[in-house]
Amino acid sequence: MEDRMTEVQIDFASEGELRWIEQNDTYISRQTIEKKLKDREYIVARHKDRLAGYIRFGYFWSMIPYIEIISVEDQFKLQGIGRAMVNFLEDLARAKGQKLIMSSSQADEPQAQAFHRKVGFRDAGALVDLLPLQSVTEVVFVKTIDDGAA
Ligand SMILES: CC(C)(COP(=O)(O)OP(=O)(O)OC[C@H]1O[C@@H](n2cnc3c(N)ncnc32)[C@H](O)[C@@H]1OP(=O)(O)O)[C@@H](O)C(=O)NCCC(=O)NCCS
Repeated sequence: MEDRMTEVQIDFASEGELRWIEQNDTYISRQTIEKKLKDREYIVARHKDRLAGYIRFGYFWSMIPYIEIISVEDQFKLQGIGRAMVNFLEDLARAKGQKLIMSSSQADEPQAQAFHRKVGFRDAGALVDLLPLQSVTEVVFVKTIDDGAA
């Protein structure tokens, strides 16, 4: 498989990327996407002239970066792009003085869970009742990015 990572750039999404995000992140309204773009709450991976993946995140307790969605296009999977986007979020969290980042995935998504554990998240519990929005348990992940050791 071609190694594309050398040509991939990770950065915040720009407002000019609204259309691509709207087509890919169909879970939230355009208005919310626009607000999150302004607030720099989308990270994208760019390969040449196209987008290869994104993270939409927010802040748990208004402090801790929490990955709401991470997605990599099929032809770019398993090439380190998901990990690189998580690393970008970790750098952002460190710059804000945070010691953790968070994420979650559905309990019936073993591959998504394997990815989280591989990139250093640990299981931190579960949201077992999100009815009527979701019938499946949501597994919560935490990753320590600064253990406080000098
Ligand atoms: C999960 C996802 C974001 C991973 O992105 P990716 O760019 O392919 O992941 P990476 O190449 O950075 O992989 C990082 C590590 O996770 C592992 N990994 C990635 N996908 C995996 C899978 N499906 N099963 C098992 N391990 C996986 C890789 O092997 C790698 O481990 P290594 O460093 O020991 O080799 C991508 O598969 C995806 O978009 N899935 C669909 C959406 C989804 O489920 N999102 C998560 C819930 S919101």
